[in-house]
Amino acid sequence: MDKTSYIAVFDSGVGGVSVLRELMALMPNENFYYFGDSANAPYGLKTTNQVWSLTVSAARKLLDGLDAKALVVACNTATAAAVQDLRSIWPEKIIIGIEPALKLACDRHPGGTIGIMATEVTLREKKLAALLARYSRDCTVMRLHSPGIVELVEAGKADSPEALELMEEELGHLRGKLDALVLGCTHYPFMRKAMETVLGDSVDILDGGPGTARETKRRLEQAGLLNDGPGSLTVENSSGQHEKVELTLRLLNTE
Ligand code: DGL
Repeated sequence: MDKTSYIAVFDSGVGGVSVLRELMALMPNENFYYFGDSANAPYGLKTTNQVWSLTVSAARKLLDGLDAKALVVACNTATAAAVQDLRSIWPEKIIIGIEPALKLACDRHPGGTIGIMATEVTLREKKLAALLARYSRDCTVMRLHSPGIVELVEAGKADSPEALELMEEELGHLRGKLDALVLGCTHYPFMRKAMETVLGDSVDILDGGPGTARETKRRLEQAGLLNDGPGSLTVENSSGQHEKVELTLRLLNTE
């Protein structure tokens, strides 16, 4: 393992691309390896044990198999289920887990009403409860579960009439009621346009991608492991479908 080794980025599917694009923008000289486990998506409807096993086996492949210098768990669900154990299994590696941008939302909107949208696993795991206890302070936090988004993004339909219809159903009743909406799943930023159409421009829609990228850079810098370039990207998807790799690359270039 040296500076030129991969930064591995892992998600249950193509959603982690919302983190990958932040990582690549901040560290263009790095060699990235994106692994999407679309064969097993969605993770958010599985048991915590199932998500744990899938995450540990992906980490084994990326940290042992590829000897990546760092692993970014670009999946809130996998982070909630397994990131602490990953750090105990691979104490010598840099392991970053994405977290919902709740602190940022509460800092920006003191006393405000914040919606947090995430998968069932993320909403029920203690990691989120700890974040809420630590940061929500005087804010009112509404937990929102929106089944269907992950499936639409995985099907390449994030920018479609179905996406807008789903967001109207799930968020329409919150129009005018939220100060901020925290996207606690890495698939959700790809539906941002539909969310803005439904909620209006005044709602601050936040995701954990930029913070995760900054933290990854900080840790690599601290370890003296930042690469000097040239950078590269390799994409693998467990589905074995060429279309998923194409979708991954298409989403990478989506605003
Ligand atoms: N992208 C994942 C997350 O950030 C979850 C998607 C899924 O349910 O597989 O939570």
